[in-house]
Amino acid sequence: MDIEKIKRAVGFRAAELIKDRMVVGIGSGSTVHYFIERLGQRCEEGLSIRAVASSHESSRKAVERGIPVCSIEEVAEIDITVDGADQIDPEKRMIKGRGGAFFREKMLAMIAKEMLVIVDDAKLVHKLGHTLLPVEIVPFGAQITQKVLENIGYEGFFRKTSEGSFYLTDNGNYIFDVKLDSLCDYPEEDHHEIMQVSGIVDTGFFFGLAGRIIVGYDDERVEILN
Ligand code: 5RP
Repeated sequence: MDIEKIKRAVGFRAAELIKDRMVVGIGSGSTVHYFIERLGQRCEEGLSIRAVASSHESSRKAVERGIPVCSIEEVAEIDITVDGADQIDPEKRMIKGRGGAFFREKMLAMIAKEMLVIVDDAKLVHKLGHTLLPVEIVPFGAQITQKVLENIGYEGFFRKTSEGSFYLTDNGNYIFDVKLDSLCDYPEEDHHEIMQVSGIVDTGFFFGLAGRIIVGYDDERVEILN
């Protein structure tokens, strides 16, 4: 099965789990795109929900499909937030942020009763690592932040747009992609060390947040892991 079909299958399955009157968090990324598509159809069919989006892009897509979107300030808690991941290990620790929206995604997950993760099976890893770890950095003194990070062993590069300017998050910050060349034996320690550096807003590590995981496979199977 091609990857878009897998993403569609898991996104659609997630949308079937949404119930009337829920406050729904909407993550970001290409898998969430399909969740938004099906959720929009369900709203048209009469499902009554309120949604909070984790990015301008997801908000725009949701509004386009008729999903009622409100701001995070308008909700005390979220019933379920649905989001993708770049890597997820057997302890449900994740690396997110390829799409640059991880800070807001984490905020939604923090106030959600459940974070439902939707992935294709290539995202399931034995150990996190051998990848880029997105880190959101305040622009003021960003070169200094980079130097300090590199001095403690976290080399990487600032994410740029196709025009060559700094990629800006919805919060107006930069993304520094740390090169995790090896596998992380202690990802919590990596997160903690990085967070000690001034100028860091957050890392793309997510710990203790994922609930059920919907996994899509090449052979068309879709499985829900509790
Ligand atoms: C964006 C994210 C995405 O959820 C993550 O990158 C997965 O995206 P995709 O479904 O496109 O593979 O964290 O900040």
